[in-house]
Amino acid sequence: MSFDDFTCKGVQFRAKVHSEDRLKFVENEFEVYDDDVYNVTYPKSGTNWMIEILNLIKHDGDPTISQTVPIYERSPCIEVTQAADQVDKLTRPRIISSHLPYNFFPKSFSTSKAKIIYTMRNPKDVIVSFFFFRKMYCYHKVNGDFQKSVDVFLEGNGGYGSWFNHLKGWMQMKDDSRFFFITYEELLKDHRGSVIRLCKFLGKNLTDAQIDSVVKHSSFNTMKDNKMSNLTEMPFDMLDQTKGSFLRKGVSGDWKNYFTVAQSEYFDRVYREKMKDLNMSFYCEQE
Ligand code: A3P
Repeated sequence: MSFDDFTCKGVQFRAKVHSEDRLKFVENEFEVYDDDVYNVTYPKSGTNWMIEILNLIKHDGDPTISQTVPIYERSPCIEVTQAADQVDKLTRPRIISSHLPYNFFPKSFSTSKAKIIYTMRNPKDVIVSFFFFRKMYCYHKVNGDFQKSVDVFLEGNGGYGSWFNHLKGWMQMKDDSRFFFITYEELLKDHRGSVIRLCKFLGKNLTDAQIDSVVKHSSFNTMKDNKMSNLTEMPFDMLDQTKGSFLRKGVSGDWKNYFTVAQSEYFDRVYREKMKDLNMSFYCEQE
């Protein structure tokens, strides 16, 4: 099995699931529709949680699709080579996921009325989530201890490149009316309120009972018990279920169980330095 990475515009991608041809096609030729909704995240920031929420909103709280269609087919990642057919088969309005940095996104978005939802997560929790995910993700095994995961993250050498560049790139859209920014921590703290805000952004009028259903069927426990959402249906040679669980803990602040004081202080110093030109503060920084 090959674990080859390749670099495109200075960002690392995985040859197992990405190709230069697909990246070029997505950026230059992919047709964005006005009613498209894009679920954009840096990996391990709550991508699948948002897929669940958005698809339930699309279907007015009806969980049938969530219970019958694997989550990775409901809103495939646009840039993943193997997902190209699934993207083409989506029903409108399409809900499409992406981890792409801003400067890789389809050019046709700029003249469209499509919407983007960007979910950010406390980067220390992203590192922890990644650390455990890498143990089970066969295409992306990083040998090494937790320190190695922190180093890879801070150096921006992992797949999809630097977390800092990802966030800074996408924040160029923060004042665009087609852009909705939310954090994983806000979703955790006020799941129902977040669903209501998302419905408003998407122009969806759901009844209280339908909103309750969205919240219920996108809760951590429901998703963990749903084989269409917990990724247990993924091929074993891609995701080794004996090495962990995709829906692992679903909490904020788990980093405190893994970072040493020294690692945390070092991370904070690098974070302040790399974020200083952004001049924004984020809710998840308090967690
Ligand atoms: P943990 O590993 O910290 O548990 P992504 O979908 O971007 O890969 O993100 C995966 C992370 O989102 C995992 O975090 C997973 O448990 C968490 N997650 C998925 N669904 C969730 C839900 N309904 N509620 C809370 N967290 C959820």
